[in-house]
Amino acid sequence: MYSSKEVRACFPSLKDGFAFLDNAGGSQVPAVVIDAIADYFRTKYAQTGGTYPASVAARETIEAAHAFVAQFMNAGQAGGVILGASSTTLVHGLANAFGEILHAGDEIIVSDANHEGNATPWRRLERFGIKVVAWPIDAVTLACEPDSLRALLTPRTRVVAFPHVSNLLGRVSDARAIADVARAAGAVSVCDGVAYAPHRAIDVQAFGCDFYFYSTYKVFGPHMGAMFGRREAWAPLTGANHGFIPRDAFPTKWEPGGVSHEGCAGVLALQWHVGFLEGEPYQNYVSVQRAFDHVADLERGPHARLLEYLTAKNGVSVLGPTQPGPDAVALVSFRHARVPSARIAAVVNRRGLGIKHGHFYSVRLLQALGIDPEDGVARVSLAHYNTVEEIGRLIAVLEEVFAG
Ligand SMILES: Cc1ncc(COP(=O)(O)O)c(C=O)c1O
Repeated sequence: MYSSKEVRACFPSLKDGFAFLDNAGGSQVPAVVIDAIADYFRTKYAQTGGTYPASVAARETIEAAHAFVAQFMNAGQAGGVILGASSTTLVHGLANAFGEILHAGDEIIVSDANHEGNATPWRRLERFGIKVVAWPIDAVTLACEPDSLRALLTPRTRVVAFPHVSNLLGRVSDARAIADVARAAGAVSVCDGVAYAPHRAIDVQAFGCDFYFYSTYKVFGPHMGAMFGRREAWAPLTGANHGFIPRDAFPTKWEPGGVSHEGCAGVLALQWHVGFLEGEPYQNYVSVQRAFDHVADLERGPHARLLEYLTAKNGVSVLGPTQPGPDAVALVSFRHARVPSARIAAVVNRRGLGIKHGHFYSVRLLQALGIDPEDGVARVSLAHYNTVEEIGRLIAVLEEVFAG
């Protein structure tokens, strides 16, 4: 198995020793992805629909990217995958489709732990008389708890929208239990896997959610979003693409104007990185599982070191889990009693380490936790290429910030 340092060598942007610790905002990309996109522009940059070689190659690339993402999420025969400009774009498309079939008085439960990407699209349906019910986060577990969901469900609940992992807290919720509770009440579950996907293998069949999405640019790829939906869940809905396109033309009907072709080339090339991490050429979903087992192993050391420091530091409060583990991914938000988060991030940035502060579009969550979203939190989010040495550099700067 490779070390973090060996993995780093795959990422050209990290070669100068840049400590990139803002991965939940968007990860870096390996050379195989960069090269695949460049190669696409050089050899396949044509519109689909023709029978000349570049046009055929373009279509094949797009189809192969969809097939790869479906396998990456372990979709199997359970359903299909659509791609788009971002996760937020895809959720808007889905919510608009629900807007066509729901009725005034129907209810949608939206977790307070959501990034706005899985909240605003649903809240916009209030204009049709649809009632949006807020699902508070559990103050003790900091997860979305099926029991509190049960208490909110009514015969009018149609959709439950929640994050698998909050992008501020890093705690993994039990997606399967939530999907089961929603389904038993006749509601569809829509799970945001954006903060989960860079750290663990997605398994949509095991999670059981009706819809599950993630952003490819946070998983070492280009700026796009991907959404899986179970076959039965897509069936009553229709996408927004051109009127002449039949509603059963999947995924075309759901991808208005088409997808980023060069982006598809980059998404597809992630299979080479998965294969690299696994230590064998990419084959199938087993490769994904093995690669992400390795990812979790690589992240554990730096994650543990960071938490060990922050939890022992006077004046610092860590928002989420205080230890790495199967239900805690490698992202840590914290505040200091005296030093504003803005100042923490600014000083750390000046010293050449990439972190950010703020609300990270999870405004309601911070409000629920009694934190002013304006200053928000400082967030350190790791990927498999981060090292304990980088965390050491970060700690040295934080020591100065907290002392000053
Ligand atoms: C947890 C979470 N959900 C959704 C999104 C939105 O993703 P996108 O930028 O692809 O719309 C983000 C982006 O930061 C996120 O962190």
